[in-house]
Amino acid sequence: MKRLTDWYAHPRYYEAIFGTDTEREMDFLEGLHRRYGNGGRRWLEPACGAGRLLAEGAKRGLTLVGYDLSERMLAYARKRMRPASSARVSLHQARMEAFCPPQLVGRMDLAFNLVSTFRYLDSEAAALSHLRATARLLSRGGIYVLGFHLTDYARRTPERERWVGHAGGARVVCNTREGAPDRASRSSAMRNRLRVTGPRVDLLIETEWSFRTYSGAQARSLFRRAGLKVLARHDFDYTLDAQAAGDRLDSVFVLAHDPSPSGRATG
Ligand SMILES: C[S@@+](CC[C@H](N)C(=O)[O-])C[C@H]1O[C@@H](n2cnc3c(N)ncnc32)[C@H](O)[C@@H]1O
Repeated sequence: MKRLTDWYAHPRYYEAIFGTDTEREMDFLEGLHRRYGNGGRRWLEPACGAGRLLAEGAKRGLTLVGYDLSERMLAYARKRMRPASSARVSLHQARMEAFCPPQLVGRMDLAFNLVSTFRYLDSEAAALSHLRATARLLSRGGIYVLGFHLTDYARRTPERERWVGHAGGARVVCNTREGAPDRASRSSAMRNRLRVTGPRVDLLIETEWSFRTYSGAQARSLFRRAGLKVLARHDFDYTLDAQAAGDRLDSVFVLAHDPSPSGRATG
């Protein structure tokens, strides 16, 4: 068995697990856009990874901008775009903390960032900077759909999840572990193991990182400071008709500019 680190250097195996719900996620985003958005067709995906949602959006006639830190993920995204899609999708290597090109200010009708990627931003300053930058890119009536797992600070034991997928002839088993949260440092230790086995492959890709933690109140306070209001909160089950109940941790926030004096971005 060969041991590797960094699952984002292996987009094919990453997507064998996280790329299986893409059509349903895009249906959900379109549903949210119909309900809360302005109907515009220019969309943005911060931290777009290997571009599965961008490719799906392009197929549906949207014009999209995506960016990511990882050149390996972006290379996979560029390769997967069909000639027809590549005219509709522009890709950039950039960081969530800073992406705000002047030519795109006020031009994005919907931004989306699902699967807890926002939690990579490891400080309040970084998270605030990302939200303010993304808010500047939104057009009038534009929305930011931000999905991430909130933290129950009373949890003392690790949280584990397991998925199984396939890539070509290989079987991919994914185990993630989120350690108990540390309220003082606002972080929890994450570990992901992708075990890939098949006729010509025998790999263990083990990745470790730290995720920032948010209670519901911490998330709402951050959104307020960024000048954003919560129009709705849904669940990771991507059901349009059910809003998330107060005690659910998996949250998809629909955010928009808050024009009220209390929502005006400061600092
Ligand atoms: C969980 S993947 C999500 C990819 C894609 N959004 C999807 O749904 O398939 C997280 C992505 O975030 C990227 N990433 C992590 N930190 C980042 C940062 N500070 N700025 C930009 N991208 C970042 C990683 O390179 C990775 O591609």
